[in-house]
Amino acid sequence: MTRIAIIYHSGYGHTAVLAQAVAEGVGKAGAIADLVKLESAEQDFSGALAAVAKADGVIFGAPTYMGDISVPLRAFFVATSKAWMAGEWKDKLAAGFTNGLTFGGNKDHSLNSMIVLAMQHGMIWVGPAQPLGNMNGNSTAAPEAVNRIGSALGVTAQSDNAGADVTPPAGDRESARQLGERVARLAAKFTA
Ligand SMILES: Cc1cc2nc3c(=O)[nH]c(=O)nc-3n(C[C@H](O)[C@H](O)[C@H](O)COP(=O)(O)O)c2cc1C
Repeated sequence: MTRIAIIYHSGYGHTAVLAQAVAEGVGKAGAIADLVKLESAEQDFSGALAAVAKADGVIFGAPTYMGDISVPLRAFFVATSKAWMAGEWKDKLAAGFTNGLTFGGNKDHSLNSMIVLAMQHGMIWVGPAQPLGNMNGNSTAAPEAVNRIGSALGVTAQSDNAGADVTPPAGDRESARQLGERVARLAAKFTA
């Protein structure tokens, strides 16, 4: 059965909501989602590394803090160097999601950090393939719109300064769900 590892960090719970949505999408595609939450840069990453080792595809997630992925995901990336030396992640699918307070917020930079890591490993990066949220010409995309921020690199969500029960909004959650489903479907085809 296809397995997708979702390796993510969330300081205040908003990115965790997206991770759950990604896992839902993976499940909808009939695949197994291994959801692994990173807690700190100093933790033991062996569980997360084991989840990736078993997976056909990996979806990385982190909030954008100061224009880049949060430190626990960065530390995890550094901890993948042994797997890199051995070429263990080569040809696995990879994708990513991030989240920030502002609409731009330099969130594509966070996705680029994930893409560079994936490319160093020889992974195959999967974008969301979602139309841009305001392509209808409106200056703002509705909270229900899929890909309302408009990134082709991964899912970029926006959360207000409020509880994770109300933000990020429905469109961002749906974008994340669709990303999980897409990666799981492609991984199943790719490994067939
Ligand atoms: C230290 C710090 C730096 C931040 N930097 C950015 C940023 O560069 N861009 C942005 O859009 N949001 C930024 N934010 C806002 C967070 O990304 C936002 O609150 C997000 O919802 C947090 O996700 P989490 O609840 O999963 O931790 C920053 C927040 C903190 C605490």
